[in-house]
Amino acid sequence: SASTDPNVIWHQHHVDQAQRSAQKQQQPVVLWFTGLSGSGKSTIAGALEAALVAEGHHTYLLDGDNIRHGLCRDLGFSDQDRAENIRRIGEVAKLMTDAGLIVLSAFISPFRAERERVRERLSEGQFIEVFVDTPLAVCEQRDPKGLYKKARAGEIPAFTGISSEYEPPRTPAIHLSGDLSVAEHVATCLHVLRERGVLR
Ligand code: PPS
Repeated sequence: SASTDPNVIWHQHHVDQAQRSAQKQQQPVVLWFTGLSGSGKSTIAGALEAALVAEGHHTYLLDGDNIRHGLCRDLGFSDQDRAENIRRIGEVAKLMTDAGLIVLSAFISPFRAERERVRERLSEGQFIEVFVDTPLAVCEQRDPKGLYKKARAGEIPAFTGISSEYEPPRTPAIHLSGDLSVAEHVATCLHVLRERGVLR
């Protein structure tokens, strides 16, 4: 991940992450939501962000569809493009933790190796993996954008869960499953954040 150009040198600035976040009642972290399309990642991440902001925290939500309109507009859904998508988002999330923010990211991020790479780019304990474990059958039943129907009809190649792999986290920090409300999932996340001392 470091530059391969010997003339590109890392510059150590005066103000660091600890100083940027010192005035805030929070530790910078990345809440990395992962799960199938339609699992509820964006909905839960969005509701959690609203709860954090209501408590006076400084947050930023990186969300799949929006990022693919800008930063990653050149990327599709091949394995390679998904890996590059996650790499870029991981780097942006890292910059945002340097700025002292609580970052929430909501991408399918189907591959373990790419999620682990993001974890490795962050400081110890700053990557909090949140597995939105909604079964494929439920996601397909919801089908909010009609994409599963199209994928089953063979109209979308490499659709996650149908014709492209999803590798679930083995030991997620937060495992959201079962028939619970968004508010209950948000409460679970807040509980873990307090337990870990992320929120002061
Ligand atoms: S990834 O795998 O992490 O790079 O995907 P992500 O950036 O989160 O984008 C997922 C959203 O793109 C739509 N979409 C597809 N998803 C999966 N597979 C294929 N082939 C595909 N094509 C388009 C889909 O609406 C996903 O939205 P969410 O919010 O996850 O339902």
